Amino acid sequence: MISPTPLPLEKSTSTPDGRFQTVYLDSPEFSSGLEGQDVIEGLTQSPKVLPPKYFYDDRGSQLFEQICGLPEYYPTRTEAWILQHYARAIAQATGACELVELGSGSSTKTRLLLDAYQAQGHPLYYQPIDVSAGILADSAAQLLTDYPTLQVQALVGTYGQALNALPTPARAPRLLLFLGSSLGNFTPLECDQFFAQVASVLEAGDYFLLGIDLQKDTAILEAAYNDCQGVTAAFNLNMLAHLNYRFTGNFNLEAFHHQAIYNPEDCQIEMYLRCQQPQSVQLKTLDLSIELTPGESIRTEISRKFNLEQMQHYLQVQGLSPVQTWTDPMQWFGVILCRR
Ligand code: AVJ
Repeated sequence: MISPTPLPLEKSTSTPDGRFQTVYLDSPEFSSGLEGQDVIEGLTQSPKVLPPKYFYDDRGSQLFEQICGLPEYYPTRTEAWILQHYARAIAQATGACELVELGSGSSTKTRLLLDAYQAQGHPLYYQPIDVSAGILADSAAQLLTDYPTLQVQALVGTYGQALNALPTPARAPRLLLFLGSSLGNFTPLECDQFFAQVASVLEAGDYFLLGIDLQKDTAILEAAYNDCQGVTAAFNLNMLAHLNYRFTGNFNLEAFHHQAIYNPEDCQIEMYLRCQQPQSVQLKTLDLSIELTPGESIRTEISRKFNLEQMQHYLQVQGLSPVQTWTDPMQWFGVILCRR
């Protein structure tokens, strides 16, 4: 018997009709044993911090979807309002293009753009990128039935992995989507680095569509991150469940309390998990042991609130020239279309 050639470790899967492909992006962190290095760094510094990307396991992505529908959480519906009103203008400005989306999640808002491109008779190519393989698979399946001509190449990985290894576009130009004010999680320095990377990955003539949450009354901001139903609290706490699972840890979720406050100096919401009782935590696969004292907090997220004019200027400087900007009647949220 002739033994078959050994197959390489599977890095991509596709459907027989060729309309759907999933690509698992290489994780240099994983293969070099550096996975979780950011957790070690965050938990051994003072005050303690954790990177917000650890919110998004499959359960975290579901909880985030729930947050998006909360009455207090205005960003999602406000950005959706802007896209409902201006998706046609966006499609007109760019013409036919391939949509690439960082942190695509459920792709709900992306549908408004797909509708607009479809209405203009353009073929639909979409590359959603997300760390949650589950939400990517579910939303791609839905999109493929709802848009019969759509082709989807789903990329499983982080923003960094995706920007380092973006497959060649099925169709030029590209429209890179970064919606929902995910940018708010970046410090000013990380923002700089992110825009520089975006500018270098895109070709001249490609587009970048950025959605950002704008500065507003503190009470409105704080309510959005302290919802009555406690979904945001569950989302925040889920990060510890995720870390327990991923790194064989023993965080006691019951000992922590959700906290979200607005820091007006830095114009950012800060989310914390506040430890109520002393706790020794081990994350076995990271070989990490830490002590938490009562009242000690771990910062899990910053969510910056921006100024629209400042951001336009900033993008221009980075080589991403604003073409057009849209906002809602309350000026709570902004969407900026830039051209590389
Ligand atoms: C996905 C980062 C834009 O900052 O509003 C929602 C995440 N955190 N509620 C945000 C989040 C708590 C969200 N971003």
